[in-house]
Amino acid sequence: MEKGETKSIKQLQGNLQTGLQGTLAVPGDKSISHRGIMFGAISEGTTVLHHFLTAEDCLSTLKAFQQLGVPITRDGDVVTIQGVGLHGLQQPEQPLDMGNSGTTTRLIMGLLAGQDFPTELTGDASLSQRPMKRVSEPLAEMGANIEVTDGHLPAIINGEKLHGVDYHLKVASAQVKSALILAALQAEGDSILVEKQPTRNHTEKMLRAFGADIETEADDVTITVHPEPQMHGITLNVPGDMSSAAFFMVAASLVPNSKVTLRNVGMNDTRTGLYSILKRMGGKISLSNEDSSGEPTADLTIESADLQPIEIGADEIPAVIDELPLVALLAAKANGISKITGAGELRVKETDRISAIVEEFHKLGIAIEELDDGFIIDGRQTWHLEDSQLDSHGDHRIGMVMAVAALLVKQPMTLAGADSINISYPEFFDDLATLISR
Ligand code: S3P
Repeated sequence: MEKGETKSIKQLQGNLQTGLQGTLAVPGDKSISHRGIMFGAISEGTTVLHHFLTAEDCLSTLKAFQQLGVPITRDGDVVTIQGVGLHGLQQPEQPLDMGNSGTTTRLIMGLLAGQDFPTELTGDASLSQRPMKRVSEPLAEMGANIEVTDGHLPAIINGEKLHGVDYHLKVASAQVKSALILAALQAEGDSILVEKQPTRNHTEKMLRAFGADIETEADDVTITVHPEPQMHGITLNVPGDMSSAAFFMVAASLVPNSKVTLRNVGMNDTRTGLYSILKRMGGKISLSNEDSSGEPTADLTIESADLQPIEIGADEIPAVIDELPLVALLAAKANGISKITGAGELRVKETDRISAIVEEFHKLGIAIEELDDGFIIDGRQTWHLEDSQLDSHGDHRIGMVMAVAALLVKQPMTLAGADSINISYPEFFDDLATLISR
């Protein structure tokens, strides 16, 4: 989609008499695609990623590692990386442009903190407002020297010799944890990292598959990293992204008469919060073709259902962090009061997702109250529309959740800034259309 494009949702809204119907394979997982490039780059030998996510965020990672001297080629969604090893990266000639990608930025900070050259990182306007001290400060405890600008990008990473740490993370963030793990691989001595809460564990699982020596205790929050592993390239099938499947799980649950099957969706249990929440709300969702040979995957079949309100607190948040705007939408159609708390991290995503959701939901006439760390929603079957022009706030996930919300009202709706979906799911509207036009 074109930059700044306003998309009319009218045609999609007009063809919903028989609901959403059909089968879809969503694009590859964003978190795993980023990591596949990074870990392939620092391994010896060839890594091949199938079903790589060819969206802007992961392409920012691909380009950054090419600039770091790693030979990487892409043929459609197949990416081949000729690994250069943990100490084979080269100083880039230009600053690395992180685009909109928080994952690229934070993980690369950890990796480059221990290299023997300096690197400058820049990013777009949204990324340049996101907090970076949450990474640079714990890395400093390992001896890293990272200059951030008032806590933000642009940043200069002055590569240094690092030493192992025993560190308790201050935020529940897989990005911060992953940055520390990547630094710990290059440090002198072991590192012990203790998370506040378990967060997505792709870094630990994938690094082990590449040959790294990383232990996770039975408490799921204590991680020991042994440095200087012998890492080797692998071939990896990237599962479908649960966070992209989520839009159709919610759309099929809420649009009457729907039945949708989503094939080969990643079911890592640090990511399946929406699946559990939807079930608890009374959603009709079933699994088939379950496979746990690598990252677990399954086909998901979702049918429309009458939903119950729900309460969600801090413990549940990490496994559903990126899907919380969609949980808010489910709650808006479930008769009664739903409450989501402990989700203050939403305020530091691609946009402040709490205030963006409240502003957009008010346009739809949804009774939603803003909390510092979440929302209270008084769900109803019928909303009284106040404004038919929705806005993505420049945030891919807000754009897609509002497109799904537009399917639930009769008046023709538009979505401003619809192009933001290119960050994680460029084919979103095409895929949605295949479930609607028959
Ligand atoms: C991600 C971690 C999460 C998530 C983001 C991707 C990752 O961010 O919101 O979309 O790939 O590690 P935080 O670590 O900031 O919670």
